[in-house]
Amino acid sequence: MAEEKKRIFSGMQPSGLITLGNYLGALNNWTKLQDEYDCLYCIVDMHAITVRQDPAKLRKQAKELLLQYLAVGLDPEKNIIYYQSHVPQHAELGWILNCYTYMGELNRMTQFKDKCAKHADNINGGLYTYPVLMASDILLYQTDLVPVGEDQRQHLEITRDIAGRFNSIYGDTFKMPEVYIGKVGAKIMALQEPTKKMSKSDDNKNNIITLMDDPKEIMNKIKRAMTDSDNEIRFSEDKPGVSNLLGIYCAVTGKTIPEAEREFAGAGYGAFKTAVGEAVVADLEPIQKKVKDLEANKDYLDEIIRSGAEKASRLADRTLTKVHKKIGFPARIR
Ligand code: TRP
Repeated sequence: MAEEKKRIFSGMQPSGLITLGNYLGALNNWTKLQDEYDCLYCIVDMHAITVRQDPAKLRKQAKELLLQYLAVGLDPEKNIIYYQSHVPQHAELGWILNCYTYMGELNRMTQFKDKCAKHADNINGGLYTYPVLMASDILLYQTDLVPVGEDQRQHLEITRDIAGRFNSIYGDTFKMPEVYIGKVGAKIMALQEPTKKMSKSDDNKNNIITLMDDPKEIMNKIKRAMTDSDNEIRFSEDKPGVSNLLGIYCAVTGKTIPEAEREFAGAGYGAFKTAVGEAVVADLEPIQKKVKDLEANKDYLDEIIRSGAEKASRLADRTLTKVHKKIGFPARIR
């Protein structure tokens, strides 16, 4: 019998345009997993509404995220790509798993505490149980590996705790998922504040480059990026701005840091920034073109959306049927 491929699940929130940081740190790596693994890539719109969203904007951003998943090279034939809200089983398992999660566990979540501080006027139940919905995303598909950043590690831990608890009560039901640590994904920092991560929810647009920024915007933002005053182009902890630009340059060109340092030895920051900007523009141009092409092809997109949800739903049902049976819900008459 052919060995089954391991399953990967990951998702991004449609809460803004994807940044260069999301792309180089995550999305770009996902494309490298699609042959070796059986992957589901979800657009987690249900997570997005844990903070207030403008409806028209949310819908637009979800669509853009889908386009960008496809444009960077995620193949809809090889991966299951879909909107979370199209597969109601996520919510269903979410409810069930809420009943197997302690408030004490949820109280410890650092992202919940951060978000409470940031959205003090809207500390809702969804924000609180966000990790349980995320656990459901993962456990619904009997996921082996979850590629996520460091900031999501605690959510993976609670997912494992919930799965373990359920399994110990009812017998083996959920696969125990693990964090997937890829080959060091580039960690891209905010351009103006290079000691913090580039984040799509940053209010300072000069801190971020999005995948859809036009060449002029990209050049301007990089030229304005914070550096330092010693005019030396080398990677060093005490030079976060220059190091970040070097990191970006290497991530988009595939060069190593020492190679880039040699290349720019003796160059001024002006010339260096121009080179970084041009390299980013060259990397993003084909992606932007692909987005435009896809946008014009509504039927093709609709079919991806429809079949993605259908495939995910079929897999989700298998787990959910098993769960219903274990916890004692009456069997559905079909
Ligand atoms: N919480 C993740 C984030 O903000 C997004 C997410 C939701 C996710 N469900 C997931 C990531 C399941 C991995 C697996 O980045």
